[in-house]
Amino acid sequence: MTIEPHGGKLVNRYVQLEEKEEKIAEAKKLKALYIDEYLSFDLDGIAKGIFSPLNGFMGEEETLNCLHYMYLKKGVPWTIPILLDTSSENSEKIEIGEKVALISNSNNIVGTITVREKFSIDKTLLAEKVYGTKDIAHPGVKRTYSLGEIFIGGEVEVFEKKTIEFEEYNLPPKVTRAIFKERNWKRIVAFQTRNPIHRAHEYLTKCALEICDGLLIHPLMGTTKLDDIPGEVRMKCYRALVENYYPQNRVLLSLMPVNMRYAGPKEAIMHAIIRKNYGCTHIIIGRDHAGVGNYYGTYDAQRIFDQFDPNELKITPLFFENTFYCKTCGNMASTKTCPHDESHHIILSGTKVREMLSKGEKLPLEFTRKEVAEILTSWIKESRS
Ligand code: ADX
Repeated sequence: MTIEPHGGKLVNRYVQLEEKEEKIAEAKKLKALYIDEYLSFDLDGIAKGIFSPLNGFMGEEETLNCLHYMYLKKGVPWTIPILLDTSSENSEKIEIGEKVALISNSNNIVGTITVREKFSIDKTLLAEKVYGTKDIAHPGVKRTYSLGEIFIGGEVEVFEKKTIEFEEYNLPPKVTRAIFKERNWKRIVAFQTRNPIHRAHEYLTKCALEICDGLLIHPLMGTTKLDDIPGEVRMKCYRALVENYYPQNRVLLSLMPVNMRYAGPKEAIMHAIIRKNYGCTHIIIGRDHAGVGNYYGTYDAQRIFDQFDPNELKITPLFFENTFYCKTCGNMASTKTCPHDESHHIILSGTKVREMLSKGEKLPLEFTRKEVAEILTSWIKESRS
């Protein structure tokens, strides 16, 4: 039995092929609303069912429920609002009930929204509820304060799939679900990452694979912070790692075209719901999942799961302690499995990898596999020349 999509049904908001021409012609006559790259990823997420059960950008009541209670409606958890913002000036030109064309930053009509609501939300509330802080230095808070004053809620229709680099790995939920079925995987664990896979990550995924049938390596490839390692470099690393160190019949490498929010605990729940929509039954949540800076406690993203009824979330989180390489054990471990003190440990993290690379330091084998170290080192050399 496959896991049900969140809210019961996998959403598809792409227009049917036979209607496409007519709908585009109709949209050309509508008022235009311009959306940036971030919003076009969100739109694509709605269209593909990544954000099921959402069939459009959220309205006011849904947003407030989400912020205050972490639910869309009873029985359907949701932690981060998916919002379409615009300026007060633009919103004045738009009537409730009318259809508006959505235009991407490359000037293409990508879809339409039927305007059900226009509303405003206190941005401080939005920042504090989603990110747990109103500090402008937090990338999510910064974005929140830069949003337009008015939000437009309503269902969308989308004309074209948003294509991105490495599109062949951009498998939508419908396709990953079909692959899992074909491979007869029942227990499928998702691994979210925004970094090249280092040894700690590899350890988590392999521990999880010991108790699951299949592993979905699911790097996030929406917009990220400027200092995160670019998607094309990460993708090379993932491919090298999967080819050399994972059993091919037990792993699927596919990317997730969703923006990184850096919302720690709230994003961990969102990542779980999204992976359930992709057909996964389990998700790895390690230390400081989706964190940034020192805004969240090491295990906050695990503790938040206690606030939800497992029968509503359905996907099962697999929690991992902070893992490190122990020189004396000669392997990856955590304080749960290693008796030695910190002086024996090499602490690994994506941030540390980035720091070492920027200082031109060699990445040791305890940190990354040699193939990954080579890709990262030549990328840093090229980007400096
Ligand atoms: S994240 O923003 O996608 O969470 P990252 O790619 O670093 O960042 O982490 C991917 C997953 O691995 C997350 O679940 C994170 O908690 C976990 N993780 C990363 N490093 C470690 C580590 N050293 N020990 C335990 N878990 C880790």
